[in-house]
Amino acid sequence: MTKLLVRTVPDPVLREKALPVLAVDAATITLMKDMLETMYADDGIGLAANQVGVLTRVIVIDVSDSRDGNEALMMANPEITWASDETFTYREGCLSVRPCSSESSADLYANVTRPKAIRVRYLDEKGAVRELEAQELFSQCIQHEIDHLDGILFVDHLSALKRGMIMKKIEKLRRAMGDGKPL
Ligand code: NI
Repeated sequence: MTKLLVRTVPDPVLREKALPVLAVDAATITLMKDMLETMYADDGIGLAANQVGVLTRVIVIDVSDSRDGNEALMMANPEITWASDETFTYREGCLSVRPCSSESSADLYANVTRPKAIRVRYLDEKGAVRELEAQELFSQCIQHEIDHLDGILFVDHLSALKRGMIMKKIEKLRRAMGDGKPL
């Protein structure tokens, strides 16, 4: 497996809409595994293909405490088939909404409200159609990752004021890091 470079704002690939996977082939499985390795390396709980510069509808998620890969989910073409009216609020952050994926700050997180429960249909790493129901953090994470596939970032769910504060903070952190650090 290979750790991939995580793109950060304002990389335009984060604003593109990813295209459906036509078949879960060897290349898709390699992408899924590399994305998982990248997500674990940067201590994320989810990652979408746009974030590694690939415009394919693939996401990976692991919201478990153990983070040993046993509960990792790799999804192609994830689609929400039902969402609850009841909502849930969680303090979200994103590996792409940072000065670089490994550099974070408490100021780069913000509360986002989304449906509390969802059902999602997807293709697993064997190409089989699966459906699962997710609640709370798990649901929140899947919705955040599917947003990425549509070019949407969690900051788009915030007020312009709050979004502006996060973007300014990223610029400030980048200046503090200097030019020598890879973005
Ligand atoms: Ni994200």
